[in-house]
Amino acid sequence: MHNQLLVFAGSTRQQSFNRRLAQATAAIAREAGAQVTLLELSDFDIPMYNADLEAQGTPADVLRLKQILWEHPAWVICAPEYNGSYTALLKNTIDWASSPVKGHPDWQDGTRPFRGKVAGMLSASPGALGGLRSQSHLAPLLINLECWLAPQAFALGHAGSAFDDQGALVQPAHRDRVRAVIDQVLWAAGRLHP
Ligand code: FNR
Repeated sequence: MHNQLLVFAGSTRQQSFNRRLAQATAAIAREAGAQVTLLELSDFDIPMYNADLEAQGTPADVLRLKQILWEHPAWVICAPEYNGSYTALLKNTIDWASSPVKGHPDWQDGTRPFRGKVAGMLSASPGALGGLRSQSHLAPLLINLECWLAPQAFALGHAGSAFDDQGALVQPAHRDRVRAVIDQVLWAAGRLHP
């Protein structure tokens, strides 16, 4: 079970660098022997969180998303940086996913899809810092939800020139950094979810 890795990006922009990084990460993780689910957030119709809306019933796509998060012990999140933090899309997705679901045996305590999961963080940006500050805000949020965070992380700077036409990372050093995050996430998941 521990080698089931969920990879997703906090951007739905068509030309998203973080989606490209998620795709490259999925390929590297498959080479490393992981069973990878590459999640695309634009496949989910998730409204802006509103407790009034939730009181009418958790949307079907939120339940679908929670189920996928629930099933995967290890995650890699590619988090774009907006205004020195992570995106509203990512926050909204996490807020919905962490909220209790009335009558559901597994999700009465809303944090449960997150509790004990091993998470690794990546980011990509056209700028030199690679969206690093998204990670510094995402880390405490994930820890607050009782995720185990991989100490290894990687921010891909100058992302406009980092991928080849097939979507692979051009520089071996970048691939190595991504692989180090994957290895650590899978290592920890192997111990927490043997
Ligand atoms: C940005 N961007 C950005 N980049 C950065 O390095 N630091 C920042 O604070 C911000 N702030 C910011 C705010 C807003 C509202 C937008 C739209 C963009 C640039 C951003 O990181 C860049 O567009 C990335 O390419 C976005 O990720 P995706 O969509 O390519 O995955």
